[in-house]
Amino acid sequence: MTTFNVTSEFLLDNEPFKIISGALHYFRVHPDYWEHSLYNLKAMGCNTVETYIPWNLHEPKEGEFDFSEGRDINKFITLAEELGLYVIVRPSPFICAEWEFGGLPGWLLNYPDMIYRTTDSLFLEKVAPFYHEILKRLKPQQVTEGGPILMLQVENEYGSYGNEKEYLRSLVKMIKDEGITVPLFTSDGSWDETLRAGSLVEDGILATGNFGSKAAENFSNMQAYFDEKNVEMPMMCMEFWDGWFNRYNEPIIRRSPQEFAEVLEEMVSLGSLNFYMFQGGTNFGFMNGCSSRGLKRLPQVTSYDYDALLTEWGDPTEKYKLAQAILSKYSPVSEPRVLGKTSGSGQLTKATNLFDVLDKISTPQHVMYPKTMEAFDQYYGYILYRTTVYSAKKEQRGLLMGAQDRVHIFVNQKLVKTLYQEELLTDFMLDMEIGDNQIDILVENMGRVNYGPLLQSEGQRKGIQRGFMMDIHFESDWTVYTLPLDNIEKLSNDASCDGEKAGHFYHYDVMLNEVADTFLDITEFGKGVAFLNGVNLGRYWNVGPIGYLYIPAPLLREGDNKLVIFETEKELPQTISFKDHPVYIETENQDNFKKPTAPI
Ligand code: GLA
Repeated sequence: MTTFNVTSEFLLDNEPFKIISGALHYFRVHPDYWEHSLYNLKAMGCNTVETYIPWNLHEPKEGEFDFSEGRDINKFITLAEELGLYVIVRPSPFICAEWEFGGLPGWLLNYPDMIYRTTDSLFLEKVAPFYHEILKRLKPQQVTEGGPILMLQVENEYGSYGNEKEYLRSLVKMIKDEGITVPLFTSDGSWDETLRAGSLVEDGILATGNFGSKAAENFSNMQAYFDEKNVEMPMMCMEFWDGWFNRYNEPIIRRSPQEFAEVLEEMVSLGSLNFYMFQGGTNFGFMNGCSSRGLKRLPQVTSYDYDALLTEWGDPTEKYKLAQAILSKYSPVSEPRVLGKTSGSGQLTKATNLFDVLDKISTPQHVMYPKTMEAFDQYYGYILYRTTVYSAKKEQRGLLMGAQDRVHIFVNQKLVKTLYQEELLTDFMLDMEIGDNQIDILVENMGRVNYGPLLQSEGQRKGIQRGFMMDIHFESDWTVYTLPLDNIEKLSNDASCDGEKAGHFYHYDVMLNEVADTFLDITEFGKGVAFLNGVNLGRYWNVGPIGYLYIPAPLLREGDNKLVIFETEKELPQTISFKDHPVYIETENQDNFKKPTAPI
């Protein structure tokens, strides 16, 4: 059996071993393409694949675990092993990763006193069942049991959040108690404060660094910390940021391939590394995360292309070729594979007004005052609040107390206001009929913050928190429709479309030239989410910078393919197009946006 040890260097079967790894998140790539991506990873010269394991993916509701299909982490690890790759796993309760809530499950929000990522016994009590379920599955695939898993992460950049060593120790104990015997590690910024707050070198837990440049300087910072603590540890960059992620209405962030290659040349000569990302993939469904700047929330886009070494859709890039040339001095390389692409169109077959189908896709619930979506055991998607108000005037002042994230207000089923960010912090005027008016407030959850101080904040609860005021009183007596949109197959065939009312489901028949990867062009759309054959492809928004939704071929069928789009802001065209290449949108905000040195 292979042995793997961490001394002042990594030892594989007692021989020095340089880990050349790439991050590939199984949850961002269609499972039918795992093999393709892993093959290209190996072909580039990597000997290891690294993946996070998001808690919220595997325990979407408390106590309900899912390891099926695209969540079959064991299958992903087995495929890697069959290709001769080793595996690094990061199943920490928090993963950051530009993933919804940094991997924390939304249902934690129903425990208002819980303090995440601390020794709070309530938090640790909720982590334990997840650890039990995931670690018992990973255990037989450890290198110590004959499998390919080399190492396992305890926490993710904990030094960028907290400094409670006893919390890290509690996790280590839980991990070991579940039978994990491979080396454990933490990963943090490489400067003194983060290493001091987030690592556990004093307990013999390997500390790795996260950085995208200045390899010699960053490794020497880490060495200085190890020397001070009197420990001997190998140098590893756990996240070599080769690109960066994107947010709405900001220009795409790209990194020069040549500059990246220079850093790689230096880094690989000095230590071990993990490309973050090797392939970014896609935030399918409602699983994108959200950045924050001050108290402002900046949701991330569906594409997690990351300007990485493989594109979002798995093709090698210029950076891939440059990396391969460098890595060929260290390991065998071979020709990567490329998948075919296709184009086509879609024809509108029917359009349905949200108000006409509410009862088909949701069960109304009555409350005296609005509550957040989590209170209804709903964690993603949209939620609609309805009430009737009496108005003696043609205009009324309205105010929403604590609404997240994007709000559409309808008076008598007509869209009259869209509110977002700062607009939600102030009152507004609404045109009314004299007499009774039906008020509908549709609220979109655009993804929870995955990094920084807002990780634990009131705004992580979505929908309406406190209530809606008209004139100067809170309105009571509400009907609430939860809209997680996980049941759109319930939409019937016989509905009408009224262009006056936003919030429509548009149904298209898809005609592609062949069954191959394709890109739905969203440049003429407004804002919404698309479903292909019932699968949620993710959100889109025409503020850019991304003008497409990527459709991997395994989601398509020969012949009949149905696309349903839920669009909240625009009337969609009769004919839509699918391209054989990605399309982009010039964002309004063309500030020379600088790549940050830490995630924001
Ligand atoms: C940090 C986190 C990652 C990711 C990157 C930015 O290093 O650990 O999960 O958020 O930043 O992409």
